[in-house]
Amino acid sequence: MTARNLLLLPGDGIGPEAMAEVRKIIAYMNEAQGAGFVTDEGLVGGSAYDAHGAAISEEDMAKALSADAVLFGAVGGPKWDDVPYEVRPEAGLLRLRKDLELFANLRPAICYPALANASSLKPELVEGLDILIVRELTGGVYFGEPKTITDLGNGQKRAIDTQVYDTYEIERISAVAFELARTRGNRVCSMEKRNVMKSGVLWNQVVTATHKEKFSDVKLDHMLADAGGMQLVRAPKQFDVIVTDNLFGDMLSDVAAMLTGSLGMLPSASLGAPDAKTGKRKALYEPVHGSAPDIAGKGIANPIAMIASFAMCLRYSFNMVTEADRLEKAIANVLDQGIRTGDIMADGCRQVGTVEMGDAILAEFKALSA
Ligand code: NAD
Ligand code: IPM
Ligand code: MN
Repeated sequence: MTARNLLLLPGDGIGPEAMAEVRKIIAYMNEAQGAGFVTDEGLVGGSAYDAHGAAISEEDMAKALSADAVLFGAVGGPKWDDVPYEVRPEAGLLRLRKDLELFANLRPAICYPALANASSLKPELVEGLDILIVRELTGGVYFGEPKTITDLGNGQKRAIDTQVYDTYEIERISAVAFELARTRGNRVCSMEKRNVMKSGVLWNQVVTATHKEKFSDVKLDHMLADAGGMQLVRAPKQFDVIVTDNLFGDMLSDVAAMLTGSLGMLPSASLGAPDAKTGKRKALYEPVHGSAPDIAGKGIANPIAMIASFAMCLRYSFNMVTEADRLEKAIANVLDQGIRTGDIMADGCRQVGTVEMGDAILAEFKALSA
């Protein structure tokens, strides 16, 4: 069988702790199932800055460009608060997204039945929740120019970030959202702020036109993004797929994370366009959470977001749907058994650390694979 090339970029803080649990699953799949994963490792974020003075080296960028998929842990932390803006840890992740053209970021927020009590919302509001946020990832205010801080010479400075969207960027992300909606609840809600932003006006027009031209079988709604945030915590189950821009998607997905119990639960897939010849798409899989400096090094981080990101990798990059389903089922079973890391702990459950949670999921995955 052909090799499946994976680049592992554990990063900083809890990134390496969570990645270690995925490494065990990869090793098992290679040994017991002949999965043929060939892994390489690289540095990103603060760890890369410490080693090379850049948030990712050219060598590791080249590896990322040639891998079948990249698994990314997390970057950042107080140690690098004062490094120059261009080489701060987060710049490594932004460069990966931009250079690999990973414009579509899928952030599923699923409330596992056993965790309905772990959410800060009432259990009946989140029980059975299954929404998908489709976040545009290579445009908007994250990358728009100019992006500057200028000294005005009168004791004042001016900071500028620029929100830019072109038609093609909105077309391709909304097409991804509509296509995915067809595979699930067949509903898309587009969120922008057309009441104050020109980019919101264009966003709304292009999503509407794309829908009319190619996806009129899907139900489309529009919401102003601030109201969307409110609706996400008022009645989250009203949503199926949400499509939104880079910045709103960042914020709304952290909100959605808490509906599922913890930021430590939310995986994501960052995908490029399929290659015209091979159909393959560049992809990076990353938990939604960050490096969690407050708990890093303590062995208590929840590895589920990272493991579930690997499940998305199996599904989207390698079409290993059975294995992806099994891994997600293994996570659900472990939660049903009452095994919990501290962030999702509840009365009557058994609290474990990162390694034990990883071991429990692997054991369950093995049992389901037998
Ligand atoms: P964070 O996601 O790192 O942490 C927010 C809170 O959630 C913390 O209390 C943390 O302990 C908790 N948390 C996060 N993941 C957890 C897990 N797996 N298990 C248990 N608890 C978890 O966000 P932050 O504190 O705002 O940012 C810290 C650093 O991470 C910053 O430098 C930020 O830029 C960076 N960051 C990186 C990424 C990424 O690499 N993809 C994403 C978000 C933030
Ligand atoms: C995320 C993170 C990143 C973002 C940072 C670390 C660049 O918050 O993936 O949600 O803002 O996109
Ligand atoms: Mn974020």
